[in-house]
Amino acid sequence: MEKATLIGPFKQIITMAGLPLKGALTDSQLQIIKDGGIIISGSKITGIGDFESLKETAQISETITLKGNHVCMPGFVDAHTHICFGGSRAKDYAMRNAGKTYLEIAHAGGGIWDTVTQTRKASQEELVTNTIKRANRHLKNGTTTIEVKSGYGLSVPEELKMLRAIKEANNTALPELISTCLAAHMLPKDFKGTEKEYLEMISDELFPILKEENLTHRMDAFIEQSAFSADDIQAYFSKATDLNFDITVHADQFSTSGSKVAVDHKAISADHLEASTEKEIALLAKSDTIAVALPGASIGLGCDFTPARKLLNAGASLAIASDHNPGSAPMGDLLTQASILGTFEKLTNAEVLAGITFRAAAALKLDDRGKLEAGLLADFAVFHSDNYQDILYNQGNLKPCMVWKSGELVFD
Ligand code: NIG
Ligand code: FE
Repeated sequence: MEKATLIGPFKQIITMAGLPLKGALTDSQLQIIKDGGIIISGSKITGIGDFESLKETAQISETITLKGNHVCMPGFVDAHTHICFGGSRAKDYAMRNAGKTYLEIAHAGGGIWDTVTQTRKASQEELVTNTIKRANRHLKNGTTTIEVKSGYGLSVPEELKMLRAIKEANNTALPELISTCLAAHMLPKDFKGTEKEYLEMISDELFPILKEENLTHRMDAFIEQSAFSADDIQAYFSKATDLNFDITVHADQFSTSGSKVAVDHKAISADHLEASTEKEIALLAKSDTIAVALPGASIGLGCDFTPARKLLNAGASLAIASDHNPGSAPMGDLLTQASILGTFEKLTNAEVLAGITFRAAAALKLDDRGKLEAGLLADFAVFHSDNYQDILYNQGNLKPCMVWKSGELVFD
């Protein structure tokens, strides 16, 4: 029989169990186990409940007894990042804050294309190292699952280099990495042809290799005036769906149209949504597509936040992710950003915590994490406190004192 370890007592375990996937939440809906314990066996939780009762009843081979006050949360899930990249865009940030426009920055050699150039210069090994370093930094802040996009390669060999690097990084990084192909991030400047021709080339030549090498099962596209039109992406997503790729969309960031494509293609998530109006909010709320707010991009660009309150009130499911990338969201601190979004959008603790746990897991179609329940992965973050409200109150400044990933203590 596999070893069973009991950990506790925790002053509070916030299980996130029993909460609905969609709609507004109040803090009184949170299930809080007081003086609780968790039993882990292998990678999974096999028991959860009152610490003293678990001690007496369960078949435990080892007990880890905690001293002092501790609050335990499900490990956080960051459902949208671009942490595989080369170089820096500090120059863009300074220019933007000095009042330069998107076009002026692009003309000065900045923007997404700058990161494409720097990422193409990096070797696969350099990208692996960078990605692991960034992922492990997030782990220390309690994030145990991270989605990582390609999209700075923008040719068949360079997108493959990125996705192979993400796959390799996943073998060593402490959090689990879930890869997504974002070859449809922008029309590469060195492609001789139209948007439509580029997307055809990617779907014809790259999609089959992604399947063959099992590099990703997720397909993303940036629908925006500066990137791809809804029309271009309809055909691209139809081909991706035929090959069983899950769909996710960079939607409604500066102008609307992406969320409609997302809903039409039954996307798992529609991300950004800063520009979404009542119409898009209603569309998303009626659908099974998860709305993903990216407060890190609003903070990085100095733009409006995603209308999270309105989305939840309309009945949508809301996840919150960091969008960590070198251009629009360089901070890369999920807990800080989720907490700030909660302040500006008037979200309850339960709504913010749901947005970075089980609702974020659902945005990656993962049903084995994001809650603390027997049978699920033993992924959890532990904070020195006797009150879970301290976590968001400290706006990301209260860091976990321990993090467990798949049943292993990976940070303390
Ligand atoms: O999610 N919106 C498009 N793509 C990224 C930005 C990438 C970049 O600026 O390098 C985003 O914000
Ligand atoms: Fe993004």
